[in-house]
Amino acid sequence: MPSILASKALLATGIALASACLVAHAAAGTEGPDRSLAPTPPMGWNTWNTFADHIDEVQIRQMADVMVSSGMREAGYIYLNLDDNWMADTPRDAQGNLQADPVKFPSGLKALADYIHSKGLKFGIYGDRGSATCAGPAGSGSYGHEEQDARTFAAWGVDYLKYDNCNVGTRTTSEAMREDFENMGRALRASGRSIVYSICAWKLRTHESWMPATGHLWRTTGDIRPTWAGRNPQRSMLAIVDEHAGLEAYQRPGAWNDPDMLEVGVPAPWYDLPTWHYPVLDETEAQSHFALWAMFSAPLFAGNDLRTMSRATRELLTHRGLIALDQDPLGIQARRVHHEPDGTDLFLKPLANGDVAALLLNRAERPRTMALGWPRQATAVQDVLTGKVLQAGRGEYRAEVPAHGVMVLRLTGVRPEQVSLRP
Ligand code: GLA
Repeated sequence: MPSILASKALLATGIALASACLVAHAAAGTEGPDRSLAPTPPMGWNTWNTFADHIDEVQIRQMADVMVSSGMREAGYIYLNLDDNWMADTPRDAQGNLQADPVKFPSGLKALADYIHSKGLKFGIYGDRGSATCAGPAGSGSYGHEEQDARTFAAWGVDYLKYDNCNVGTRTTSEAMREDFENMGRALRASGRSIVYSICAWKLRTHESWMPATGHLWRTTGDIRPTWAGRNPQRSMLAIVDEHAGLEAYQRPGAWNDPDMLEVGVPAPWYDLPTWHYPVLDETEAQSHFALWAMFSAPLFAGNDLRTMSRATRELLTHRGLIALDQDPLGIQARRVHHEPDGTDLFLKPLANGDVAALLLNRAERPRTMALGWPRQATAVQDVLTGKVLQAGRGEYRAEVPAHGVMVLRLTGVRPEQVSLRP
């Protein structure tokens, strides 16, 4: 485990590298995205994790209605995003323009966007840098059509594009990937509409620091699945955490590491059946998942069926204390300062008002008493999950944390390096 000082040096080096990269881009005349479009991590809802290709305009309008009535919009969930499979089987018309599936979306996507906008929400869509999207028909990808497709999206009223990495033919090199993602970034900027650009290339390798220079957000991992541990069939929640931890140097306000969407309240994915043999996240695990994403200042995209969600799911997704950590203006991804694969992880996150957020994760298969310590001169300490005020002067908080559960504290009057794990 790196020491705090070593991690700080790493952070400084990372920031210097990222800045050098931005300068190099500016010199080459490659203008970057408008950072003011996503000053804090974007929040919204996306069709993929529960519905995959089972989407239609009636359902999407209902989702928009519930985003308002459930308090999600009020809590910050603004984007309503169509993922894959919105396009027609013949995805382009005679002029080469993308067209939506006329059975799923008989009123067309412009009308759908108008409805979403009338609810005070924003409209997101999905595309791909190859010849086809990951699950879409041949021709649905934007390769060679970048400017035309960006103009189509702008005309429909799109506010957000998730751009995927499938069916790229021979364009598999890092350089080709970079060129394709940059081309769409430029096309979006030339479209005349402000569009948040989400790069979905499933990994942030250190030599691909062009991603933070090109997108507002970029995926750091493979696809998440609604299960706690293990790597099959894709990535469990914990596998994603372990891949995502340590990438904090790349993130800054307006430019976000994306560990993939939320699995809170999401059932076993029907599109993985019958190979799915894994327990889905229970309520404790879902709370840990959401709290970790908040500590990361990760983009928060719910993927559950909002129309039928339980009270517990709604309360977790709209948890004010956790969302405040996620949306903190400093936008710092919490650093993991202690890690035991089957034991305890400790994450620390400095906040804009000088507070420090600390998260203890119980990775073990049984409940354990866990404790955090801090200097007695701390002026206030809050248990973020319950909202309870703790005795700051005691210098320690000890509590039983369920298997796969978390303790999340917000401390005032201390520095991150003064917060420690107690035996
Ligand atoms: C890829 C992405 C997912 C989803 C699917 C759709 O796997 O990583 O998030 O968009 O494609 O086909």
